[in-house]
Amino acid sequence: MEPGINDLIARPDACAPPMVDALRARSVAHDLRNVLAIFSAGISLLERSHGPTARSLRIFDGLRDAVSHGNSLVSEILGSPRTAVDRREKIGPCTFLSNLEALIAGALPSGIECELECGGSVWPVEVDPTSLKSTVLNLVVNAAEAMPEGGVIRITAKNTESDESVHHGLSGNFVKLEVRDDGVGIPAELLKHVLEPCFTTKSETGGTGLGLTQVQRFVAESNGHFAVETHEGTGTTMIIYLPAADVAGTTGGCRPAGSTQSF
Ligand SMILES: Nc1ncnc2c1ncn2[C@@H]1O[C@H](COP(=O)(O)OP(=O)(O)OP(=O)(O)O)[C@@H](O)[C@H]1O
Ligand SMILES: [Mg+2]
Repeated sequence: MEPGINDLIARPDACAPPMVDALRARSVAHDLRNVLAIFSAGISLLERSHGPTARSLRIFDGLRDAVSHGNSLVSEILGSPRTAVDRREKIGPCTFLSNLEALIAGALPSGIECELECGGSVWPVEVDPTSLKSTVLNLVVNAAEAMPEGGVIRITAKNTESDESVHHGLSGNFVKLEVRDDGVGIPAELLKHVLEPCFTTKSETGGTGLGLTQVQRFVAESNGHFAVETHEGTGTTMIIYLPAADVAGTTGGCRPAGSTQSF
């Protein structure tokens, strides 16, 4: 029998059983670092034995970026207890997103393409780069998974219009980052649950339901705002507003969200 909506909704204690203690998490991170070192050595060996075609260079770039991102995540667990706020850096969104292209391409199955649209004049933002990278990857992987027949994922970054900011209960200057797909969309009954930790409709394929929880945490730590626009059958746009850094002396701040589809 097909699962109904209620079968897909996570129970409140769904996150409890796999909780690990801090020492166990650090041990796993330590072992993961060893695994990443093996990947790193293997990539160098393969690079030497393959001719530098445009395609292989792009694949190796993506693999190196993935290992580097993995090491940053491991360092978050093993390193000094710096918070995401301590790790903030001022970055230019367009350069940052362009540098992610090889990594994103490596995360996409065949049949899915990704387009980036970002003008050079997009304001800088001050965020934890590792968390922003994880956020974009989470949204891109979700978008790809929502398009089993293939399709195009569009990533855009632009400065907000002031009336749009007011609509979302924001004050100040924000950079709007969107990840849009033409996938299956999210039914209204599920939309209100998608940010619950461990809520997943992909448990059969190993989904943890923690991807959007990570996104939401990053957005909150960055004093931003998260919104979802979705239409069943035609696709979903995940929208993140990040406060612009140093634009005409003002930095954005966030008031409570006003829309039912905003988080
Ligand atoms: N772009 C999207 N299109 C359709 N549904 C989505 C999209 N993004 C998220 N969802 C829904 O939200 C749920 C929660 O997403 P989340 O990323 O938190 O977990 P997951 O993708 O299920 O698991 P994991 O991230 O561990 O692979 C998904 O199971 C899916 O039902
Ligand atoms: Mg996910």
